[in-house]
Amino acid sequence: MFFNRKKKKAEIDMTRLPVHIGVIMDGNGRWAKKRGLPRSAGHQAGADTLKKIVTECNKMGIKYITVYAFSTENWKRPQAEVDFLMNLLMSYLLDAERTLAGENVRIRAIGSRTELSSEMQEQIKKTEAFTSKNDGIVMNIALNYGSREELVRATQNLAEKVKNGEISVEDISADAISSELYTGGQPDPDLIIRTSNEQRLSNFMMWQASYSELYYTETLWPDFSISDLYDAILEYQKRDRRYGGVK
Ligand code: IPE
Ligand code: IPE
Ligand code: MG
Repeated sequence: MFFNRKKKKAEIDMTRLPVHIGVIMDGNGRWAKKRGLPRSAGHQAGADTLKKIVTECNKMGIKYITVYAFSTENWKRPQAEVDFLMNLLMSYLLDAERTLAGENVRIRAIGSRTELSSEMQEQIKKTEAFTSKNDGIVMNIALNYGSREELVRATQNLAEKVKNGEISVEDISADAISSELYTGGQPDPDLIIRTSNEQRLSNFMMWQASYSELYYTETLWPDFSISDLYDAILEYQKRDRRYGGVK
């Protein structure tokens, strides 16, 4: 198994890695159900997978990874599941200060913070500050994130700037909108991976994904391995990115 993994890694063209990878970590609940476990066990296992994948992406030299951890729609889940996810994310952030920070990972949260508990908001600030000097991979944790909310917020910010006379209506360009997003200043994702074979964006980076290569796999997120990551990158490297032009 490890021999195969090594072989796969050797096939990757390290000069053409995706700069930014987006991950829609899906299938935790189904993973648990298959094992007769509560959904929470799937989320717990998914958190371990995440650490492993971020570590490997950082080692490979990927510059950005954005992981979808909790969507603006996930509040619809039973309160107990929402509470479990929030606690898990809290401990993930805490643990990241100890482990991922040591690996030079820079952690940021993207999404709307006002709906999060004050403890969570504090922890986000602490983890961001703690890792802000790190210059390894930038890890965006999408937490209470939704593209529509992000675009509404960007639109409101731009409207406010026009109202204050800081910019004119003509200054509202694609670049201006991009820089108002939570990912402002970062390159768009080159590759978006979604696990568990659901083939949709579910409100993830709709603006930024305009020219992302989408990769779907049947593997459930807790089972997603480093070898699966290599498969996704290898598949990405086979894609012909034309951006509407001809070659
Ligand atoms: C992804 O797994 C994690 C979150 C959305 C927080 P799910 O919880 O959506 O798992 P499935 O899709 O029900 O299997
Ligand atoms: C998307 O997964 C959100 C996250 C992975 C955090 P969902 O499981 O919530 O998406 P749908 O409901 O299948 O579209
Ligand atoms: Mg799901």
